[in-house]
Amino acid sequence: MTSRERFLAACVGEKLDRPPLWVMRQAGRYLPEYRALKAKSSFLEMVRTPALAAEVTLQPLRRFALDAAILFSDILVIPEALGQGYHFRDVGGIGMKYRLETRAQIDALAPASAVPERLRYVADTLAALKKELAGRQALLGFGGSPWTLATYMVEGGSSDEFERIKLLFYTDRSAFDALLEKLTAALIAYFKMQIAAGADAIQIFDSWGGIIAGPDYEAASLRWIRQIVAALPPTFPVILYAKGTAPHLLDQAFTGIRVLSVDWTNDLAMVRRTLPANVAVQGNLDPVLLNTTPEIVTREATRLLASMRGTTGHIFNLGHGIMPTAKIECMQALVDTVTGWK
Ligand code: CP3
Repeated sequence: MTSRERFLAACVGEKLDRPPLWVMRQAGRYLPEYRALKAKSSFLEMVRTPALAAEVTLQPLRRFALDAAILFSDILVIPEALGQGYHFRDVGGIGMKYRLETRAQIDALAPASAVPERLRYVADTLAALKKELAGRQALLGFGGSPWTLATYMVEGGSSDEFERIKLLFYTDRSAFDALLEKLTAALIAYFKMQIAAGADAIQIFDSWGGIIAGPDYEAASLRWIRQIVAALPPTFPVILYAKGTAPHLLDQAFTGIRVLSVDWTNDLAMVRRTLPANVAVQGNLDPVLLNTTPEIVTREATRLLASMRGTTGHIFNLGHGIMPTAKIECMQALVDTVTGWK
């Protein structure tokens, strides 16, 4: 069985001898070969140049026996394609070119139909990767959720309190809905393009879903995700990752997604028992563990694997992205533990 077959089998809940493994942010700053490439090209250059983006995507697969490759890109290419560029602040975090403050600015964003052409480099990167992987590993595309993207656009970048986006949601619902509708349409066009270019699955990152008041999660985030899933081919595997949304796991599971990626605060075996069998789970080691020692990683990964023994529909991953300070030997211990599991 190839890694790709293993990954796709886990998505549909087939019985497997061990779960497939990939790691959120598996390409990135903890890898010396990534840092070497970044010394020569900026992040944005790497994202926009298919040969470079494909190379960075493949770096972790050359080193580790991972079952899936994830497109090297960023969720913020969507706001950029709509006319609101982004950069990295010197102090860390994201800065947007401007802050989205008025209804007129929302209406002035480019239409969703502009997205496939402006992000053609993503399709080119995926096509190059598809060829290179030759069906050995699964190829994952991704994008942000409409809500998570809207937070960056309305806050003007990374935020601590998310006051502006919440004010928009509570004081001008029609402008909020207009923005989220536009993002939803843009993401549908973007994901269709990724699927046509060869993506085997798509992960939607609702990274800021957890900052919404519980009773408002549906109106602020989940309904838009549901619209996206409904617009994609019916059996196509969509993975939903949302951080800090434990109270909403069941609602998330009923959006039509195939896989729910859960953060480290949940007990994954308990989540597995709670969710319907036709939804797979992905996760969920605490990323901080990869900053400890190989012995601790082996112990904790084994504990998670043992807790999931006998279940179906599990893709092994972290509960959020690997940190830039993660140790290579810890990542190696994780890969050895999961791929050697019996
Ligand atoms: O998983 C992968 O390997 C794919 C690559 C990937 C990146 N960003 C590359 C990246 C993915 C899936 C993302 C998604 C992303 N981008 C999210 C959602 C995922 C999550 O973690 O919840 C978000 C919120 C962003 C926005 C973003 N981009 C942030 C907050 C940052 C960090 C800014 C900082 O403070 O440094 C980025 C930059 C970024 N995206 C890097 C990488 C490898 C680091 C860039 C660098 O090399 O300096």
